[in-house]
Amino acid sequence: MTRVFSGIQPSGVPTLGNYLGAIRNWVPMQDTHESIFCVVDLHAITVWQDPKELARQTREMAAALIACGLDPKRCTLFIQSHVHAHTRLAWIFNCVARMGWLNRMTQFKDKAGKDREAAGTGLYVYPNLMAADILTYHATLVPVGDDQRQHLELANDIAEKFNHDYGVDFFPRIEPMIQGVAARVMSLRDGTKKMSKSDPSDQSRINLTDNHDTIALKIRRAKTDPEPLPDHMSGLEARPEARNLVGILAAITGTMPENVLREHGGKGFGSFKETLVEALVAHLTPISTEMTRLLDDPGALDAQLRLGADRAEAIASPICAKAEEIVGF
Ligand code: ADP
Ligand code: NA
Repeated sequence: MTRVFSGIQPSGVPTLGNYLGAIRNWVPMQDTHESIFCVVDLHAITVWQDPKELARQTREMAAALIACGLDPKRCTLFIQSHVHAHTRLAWIFNCVARMGWLNRMTQFKDKAGKDREAAGTGLYVYPNLMAADILTYHATLVPVGDDQRQHLELANDIAEKFNHDYGVDFFPRIEPMIQGVAARVMSLRDGTKKMSKSDPSDQSRINLTDNHDTIALKIRRAKTDPEPLPDHMSGLEARPEARNLVGILAAITGTMPENVLREHGGKGFGSFKETLVEALVAHLTPISTEMTRLLDDPGALDAQLRLGADRAEAIASPICAKAEEIVGF
């Protein structure tokens, strides 16, 4: 059975972008693949995290994943820092990856901002850790949003160079799995930036925990243009904000953007936005209710995550140990 790995940072409340681009696609994989999902707290500290907040957000993210449909009985769900193979293999990969490869990563450029000299070195080598996350399980399929494509190509370069340099055929090739009409959900304030939980503006995103009033306010304020919605997809080409909202409604109601335009084409954004609010509320309310229930019993949640870490460790540790042996440790 193909082994699947994916992770999500506990750097804030999960957003609609995380949900539509990643988490939602993980749920059915539990029944078709050997699935490993991870809350990547090591990745989160590549930018400053308040320690108390990090601990709270890590548990909150785990609860969100379970509330979205990940079942700790049908998948391996755990916290990255609980399994040490990730950092052990990441060090080896720091020594395999080339500066030039990392210099090309657009996420580093985005996140480091203008003052590159002041960026943490962890932010720079983040893709090496991500490669280790996947390869220490010999996972071959990685369901992610479109923003992660470049990092997965780098992971394959690392695996290939490791195999070549040490004359082994040890690490497999990884296939990204980038799905659906909402593989890249954009910010509600700027249709050219991706929606992110680490964006400073809360108005730029829908959080999975937002209630009816908050969702309504954010969608009503979402940036649009003065034109009515077009009848055909071609009419969305130069209109990133409209395209984004149409894509979100299509994804959340399980239809194609073409069908959304068939219904709303020619109308203004007013009635469209009301439809979108209702669809979002109907979909997200059960998730946030379940999150609250899970977070009310932190002991039970932590116990599930411990079991998940034990299962992950049993797969990752022997693979990592073998890599260390190949290196000569
Ligand atoms: P964020 O950028 O919100 O902090 P992460 O880096 O933790 O998100 O990514 C978790 C998963 O969510 C990844 O698979 C990523 O590709 C996906 N993802 C993040 N933002 C978006 C988005 N705006 N649209 C679609 N998928 C996204
Ligand atoms: Na990201």
